[in-house]
Amino acid sequence: MNKKVFITRKIPDLGITMLKNKGYEVDVYPKNKIMSQKELVSVLKKKDYDAVLCLLTDKIDAKIYSAAPNTKLYVNYATGFDNLDLAEAKKRGILIANAPADLASEAVAEHALVMMLALAARIVEADDFVRRGKYKGWDPMHFIGTDILGKTLGLVGAGRIGERVAFYAKGLGMKIIYTDVTKNSRIEESVGAEYVSSIEELLPKADLVSLHVPLLDSTKHLMNEKHFKMMKSTAFLVNTSRGPVVDEKALVKALKEKVIAGAGLDVFEFEPKLVSGLAKLNNVILTPHIGSASVEARNQMAEVAVNNIIDFFEGKLPKNIVNK
Ligand code: GLV
Repeated sequence: MNKKVFITRKIPDLGITMLKNKGYEVDVYPKNKIMSQKELVSVLKKKDYDAVLCLLTDKIDAKIYSAAPNTKLYVNYATGFDNLDLAEAKKRGILIANAPADLASEAVAEHALVMMLALAARIVEADDFVRRGKYKGWDPMHFIGTDILGKTLGLVGAGRIGERVAFYAKGLGMKIIYTDVTKNSRIEESVGAEYVSSIEELLPKADLVSLHVPLLDSTKHLMNEKHFKMMKSTAFLVNTSRGPVVDEKALVKALKEKVIAGAGLDVFEFEPKLVSGLAKLNNVILTPHIGSASVEARNQMAEVAVNNIIDFFEGKLPKNIVNK
């Protein structure tokens, strides 16, 4: 019998074609919206899928596993996998894989970099100013930003994405300091990044703080009121990791009270909702979780995700299992 795969929202055709070319039966949620957990339960109860390709917007937990007792593989179309209950899956003998495409790390690193540059040069505020017809001629004191050259980048997390940000930052003439649970000798050797053993040591020294950690119990609200107060008042925060790593309410307060100079956020604590007051601030840049949204990255993510399914169906251990 043909293997059956359910995909919770349309992904690039390349991935769907790879599955179909193998002769698998592929069903894709037909609506262009986030599937509710109720809808997913109902779909899984109706048909016996062998694997599910889900998204970071899907909550995959005991309710889903129970609805699909024969589904033994869930692949998340993302690098992060905090939306799935790994332990519960393991108890039930279900495998969970992610899709850590190199080009997705690249795209997210580029997005973080763009946010840093845009904050320093006040690009978004200035764009808005021109569009509103407020530009009346060159002004020597207008939209004074800050240079990047010679500034210190504080990386919180120096894994695949943080590491790429460090390489680019070096090219811009920044000094790089970083903190992580393990040292990254590659960035120490190649860009002279300096390891600091705690976030408390990093924050007062950094002009730009960029977050590149997964969402774990230990990283939830890693950036909180106390930590904002440890940053320089001229410093910027960039978050392209996961929203709940930042206490968003405390961030709004810090931005309003000019405890820090600004922030660039691609992810939000209660995504897609924003905490009250955030969107009104002019010292923030907000993008809708599009860090990995390049053609190249999304295609490679589809390939990596689907290869996990193909390996599984061909009796091999998928490459990106995260709950071994
Ligand atoms: C995006 O946020 C991802 O985890 O791939």
